[in-house]
Amino acid sequence: MLDIHKIREDFPILKREINGKPLVYFDNAATSQTPQVVIDSIVDYYSNYNSNIHRGVHTLSQEATDAYEQARKKIQVHFNAKKEHEIIFTSGTTHSINMVATGFTSFINKGDEVIVSALEHHSNIVPWQMLCERTDAVLKVIPINEEGELLMDKYENLLSNKTKLVFVNHISNALGTINPIKKIIELAHNVGAAVLIDGAQATPHIKTDFQALDVDFYVASAHKMCGPTGVGILYGKEEWLNKLPPYQGGGEMIKEVTFEKTTYADLPHKFEAGTPNIAGVIAFGVAIDYMNSIGFDNIAAYEKELLAYGTEKLLAIDGLKIYGTSPEKTSVISFNIEGLHPYDIGTIIDKLGIAVRTGHHCAQPIMDFYNIPGTVRASFSFYNTKEEIDTLVEAVKRAKKMLS
Ligand code: ALA
Repeated sequence: MLDIHKIREDFPILKREINGKPLVYFDNAATSQTPQVVIDSIVDYYSNYNSNIHRGVHTLSQEATDAYEQARKKIQVHFNAKKEHEIIFTSGTTHSINMVATGFTSFINKGDEVIVSALEHHSNIVPWQMLCERTDAVLKVIPINEEGELLMDKYENLLSNKTKLVFVNHISNALGTINPIKKIIELAHNVGAAVLIDGAQATPHIKTDFQALDVDFYVASAHKMCGPTGVGILYGKEEWLNKLPPYQGGGEMIKEVTFEKTTYADLPHKFEAGTPNIAGVIAFGVAIDYMNSIGFDNIAAYEKELLAYGTEKLLAIDGLKIYGTSPEKTSVISFNIEGLHPYDIGTIIDKLGIAVRTGHHCAQPIMDFYNIPGTVRASFSFYNTKEEIDTLVEAVKRAKKMLS
């Protein structure tokens, strides 16, 4: 059992008031809140050992380098990557996906096929469309059913020896559906295709094991899991990262530079050109420690309770429809009320102190599938409470009354 009231004390922002009401923060799928221990680690870095890494022999540089590399180690252990250097630090999920999509340009030929799912965020659609435009490859889409689940039989039919890559999110940001990624990876490997999993929405809820999944690439952002913005990871199997060309040229990613020829550094430095987000990476490691101290099994069990409670209470509102009704989902409730625009609901409940996301959630194809302009999305985290859900339900009822 988690002591939620004690956990809430770790997050200074949760004491805030918005428009004179206590903040109810239900926009966790957009970004999670930051515990004091993570904030402290950033302040500590800039106050005590701010210095560039891998460059100086001086003490500060060594301290910063050690802390940065310890964070890589923590992340390797957390996700059970085989090698530390298979963890590349990036500015976030979007950056990580673009690195792979750009790198694959030289491996894809005209007529090759790449597969995405209809559940993807724009960041896991657009870079692959750009790759297809560059290479004349064909983009195929795994369709979904009314519950917001991938149609696995259709996926199997799309796979062939022309398939070179498959990109699927672990969990849909707009609906919360948990996709059967182990099966997706296995089927792709049977036809020799590589798989990239967008884990941005999964890592705050599930402890993922890269080796057990046998995934080729897995990408995620720190800010969804109690860490800072501007930092994320690209995990890639060593053999893939060795094959992929560097994404950016610059300092730190080279072995030797002459005007005739440059040779590249070994992993992970080949992909970490320039000065990285040092404080962010260190704080990411602290955030992972923090989440592990709460425990991912505890988090999953408690969030499941919040999801069940919120679903039941919201569905009791006349005319309210939830999008994304798979039994395999995380604590995301995307909904609309008949005849009302999601933006109007979001604006009114903000006045009552409640933060939700409204709109297409950067997943327009999902909204097109349901033929709606967008939804109101309430996404819960382990520091939310059932009382806050009651506040949301009352606020939505009030908004409905005002707008009807
Ligand atoms: N991808 C984030 C979301 O779903 C920003 O809100």
